[in-house]
Amino acid sequence: MPTHRMNSILIILSLLCLPCTLAYLPFHNSFLQPNLSIAQGDYISKPGCPSRCGNLTVPFPFGIGINTGCSLNAFFDINCITFYDRTRAFLANDGFEVLGIYDWKMHIKNRAALKCFDTNKKPPNNHLIDEPSMSYNFTGSPFRISAENELVAVGCDITSELSTTPDDDADYDYDYDYVSLCISICNKTEYLRNGSCSGIGCCRSSISQGLQSIYLRTGIVGSWPNVWSFNPCSYSFLAEKNSYVFDVSHIFADPLAIYNIVERYPVVIDWAIGNRNCSDAQNIICQEHSVCVDVNTGVGGYRCKCPLGYKGNPYLSPGCQGNI
Ligand SMILES: *[C@@H]1O[C@H](CO)[C@@H](O)[C@H](O)[C@H]1NC(C)=O
Ligand SMILES: *[C@@H]1O[C@H](CO)[C@@H](O)[C@H](O)[C@H]1NC(C)=O
Ligand SMILES: *[C@@H]1O[C@H](CO)[C@@H](O)[C@H](O)[C@H]1NC(C)=O
Ligand SMILES: *[C@@H]1O[C@H](CO)[C@@H](O)[C@H](O)[C@H]1NC(C)=O
Ligand SMILES: *[C@@H]1O[C@H](CO)[C@@H](O)[C@H](O)[C@H]1NC(C)=O
Ligand SMILES: *[C@@H]1O[C@H](CO)[C@@H](O)[C@H](O)[C@H]1NC(C)=O
Repeated sequence: MPTHRMNSILIILSLLCLPCTLAYLPFHNSFLQPNLSIAQGDYISKPGCPSRCGNLTVPFPFGIGINTGCSLNAFFDINCITFYDRTRAFLANDGFEVLGIYDWKMHIKNRAALKCFDTNKKPPNNHLIDEPSMSYNFTGSPFRISAENELVAVGCDITSELSTTPDDDADYDYDYDYVSLCISICNKTEYLRNGSCSGIGCCRSSISQGLQSIYLRTGIVGSWPNVWSFNPCSYSFLAEKNSYVFDVSHIFADPLAIYNIVERYPVVIDWAIGNRNCSDAQNIICQEHSVCVDVNTGVGGYRCKCPLGYKGNPYLSPGCQGNI
């Protein structure tokens, strides 16, 4: 349920009666902290399966290992790998690093689409030294790019483009199916302001719900950037709405610094069970004391939820429990 609707419910409730509002509040908070239930109680993972990968709690339907039977299906398999002293979790199917798993969301590590210039060379030899685009393809999987993310771009005289068209499918630069776009203009650093992401050095744009396969590109406005001397790289990424705070120094960042910046902002992914709603799905896996809820991302699927006063993993027996 969207937060503004939750807030309206709260306002209406408090107009009607204050005790009702107070009774509603814990329920309301469980929406704001979607990790509140699934990783609590005695049954987080399937019996005999590990429930942690390093610092990450891995609740069922996710499971550690590939084809170990610990997850609901291969999409939820978590590849747990230790590099030197750090243990990291990856989606076995997609390779994205998982940073957090919550009731119906997860955080994955961010990646940016960069465009960089060789600042040692003067125009017209100042060619692009890097131009990767970035894509997410969750087609056919239980994952969707959450509309809690927004498109963010940092750079001068650039566009940031989110489309559903692969690179090879576009005949012309603008022959894409856009789903979000923003433009940032700035040919002087004097106009840049810390904390301001409104089209001068930084831009942001919202995205719609239920996207599964998208391409992210950073484009140049005009035929030649005027900005090469101070803005070596421009970059686009997805980030949880309003989490990214623009800092003027981010305009001067080199690729390594950029990777460090964007990694601080995880991408929110919505997950669901299957692609059918509660009335259509067969063998609904919701356990005792849990309720089946249709997901509202527009691409089907359901989730199981513990009602008010109950917590636990609703996907595993014995289901939701009181007093934990
Ligand atoms: C829930 O997630 C937030 C961050 O999103 C974290 O600060 C908090 O500790 C988590 N709570 C539990 C119970 O894991
Ligand atoms: C857990 O997180 C801490 C702080 O981020 C880190 O220092 C530690 O290495 C992590 N532990 C594992 C096993 O990855
Ligand atoms: C996305 O993934 C699906 C399922 O794996 C695959 O069929 C499709 O070709 C992929 N799309 C692109 C553009 O790679
Ligand atoms: C900034 O852009 C304006 C309009 O295109 C142009 O007249 C001006 O010369 C540019 N300034 C710099 C420093 O490139
Ligand atoms: C922007 O913030 C950084 C610290 O994050 C500070 O060092 C810098 O001086 C600030 N720049 C401006 C123009 O306010
Ligand atoms: C469930 O999905 C079916 C088929 O897509 C649809 O006809 C039905 O209206 C949906 N039910 C609800 C409650 O959304």
